Amino acid sequence: MSSFQDKSFSNMEDLYPVPFPDDVPIAKLETISLNKLLSNNEVEAQRLFNVCKGSGFFYLDMMDHEIGRKMWEDACYACRSGQAVLPITPMTTKKAYKARTGVKVLDRGYQTGAVNDDGQPRDSEMFMVPQTEFFSNEPLGFELPPWLAPHEERFKNAMSSGNIVANVILSILEGKLELPPGALTNIHKLTDSSGDFIRVLRYPGTDLGAEIDPLRFPPHRDAVSIAILFTWLGGLQITDEEAAFAVPESSWRWVKPVPGTAVVNLGDAMEVFTNKLLKSGLHRVIKAPGLQRAHDKYSVLIVARPEDSTPMRSFSSPVIPEGTEEQKSAPIYSSIEWGHNKIKALQDFIDKLQSARAGKTENLERSWTAPKSGSGIDVLEGCPVGLVTHYRTKAEH
Ligand SMILES: [Fe+2]
Repeated sequence: MSSFQDKSFSNMEDLYPVPFPDDVPIAKLETISLNKLLSNNEVEAQRLFNVCKGSGFFYLDMMDHEIGRKMWEDACYACRSGQAVLPITPMTTKKAYKARTGVKVLDRGYQTGAVNDDGQPRDSEMFMVPQTEFFSNEPLGFELPPWLAPHEERFKNAMSSGNIVANVILSILEGKLELPPGALTNIHKLTDSSGDFIRVLRYPGTDLGAEIDPLRFPPHRDAVSIAILFTWLGGLQITDEEAAFAVPESSWRWVKPVPGTAVVNLGDAMEVFTNKLLKSGLHRVIKAPGLQRAHDKYSVLIVARPEDSTPMRSFSSPVIPEGTEEQKSAPIYSSIEWGHNKIKALQDFIDKLQSARAGKTENLERSWTAPKSGSGIDVLEGCPVGLVTHYRTKAEH
């Protein structure tokens, strides 16, 4: 029996080796009940809508409904799979699982940054499993590499559960936005051709005295509709105070993992669809706080993105602000072009920052292709260390 089969869903204590410290600033997030959302509880639906118009981040209680309990269990099993393969699979084998070379990026493949002499990642590593390749109505001939293939059912289960939960949220939001039923849910189907994926991340434990690197993955917003995160140790941070282009270091707040809940955030796609009525949450991920930093940290992220051909423009409704003339005349990208352009701009910016800091160009083994016809993305140039980058498509200005 392999090690991942030994550790059961019912015994997750090892994922919480050290309590979350009580002397760090913690973000105050609302907890939304999945059970109440599924029961058409109007008060809870309004709470969800308010949160999505505010920080865009919330805890979703997965334990109060069968659908949520299944998703929590699926996510725990996906985490167990990551634990089983990431520390022991040779780096050359992991790196052979490549990201897509076309326009659909970051929905599959393995990624890491600098690698230590012992072959372990210095800061983090992750792999993505694409959703469309497993759920499309047409067979696409995709196969996971041998080191991940034995875990395929777990990833599929988690993505299937994630799509159900994402659509519960989207169906509430389309009602609150006074959109026709299906306006959002019909472009987030499990079988759609889209950039949906599950990602398993590992952040190796480090010496407690090691410096936290705030730029390993700088502040950003996600190029998705909805992101559902399961994590057992700290590291995710959001901010309560947002300036136009900079967030003071002191304003970052830790998101404390709460057993039985997912951390959900809206992404940039929802800002586009609602002309910024709903908010895409700014966040960053750094090393775990306090004593937790000494331990390997795993996270499981499941995202929903719009179907590939979806035009990325605001819906019209009585509650969605009308766009400016400039917005109306801006080019409209398809979801797949839009997502690719945003992710490429972010990754290019990370590479540039890291290269500038290292005084040399780091080979991060990107596999990006050039945007098709003008990226439509403005990325702030010369953003100094410790300040936030700010990404907006021209259409969103
Ligand atoms: Fe993110």
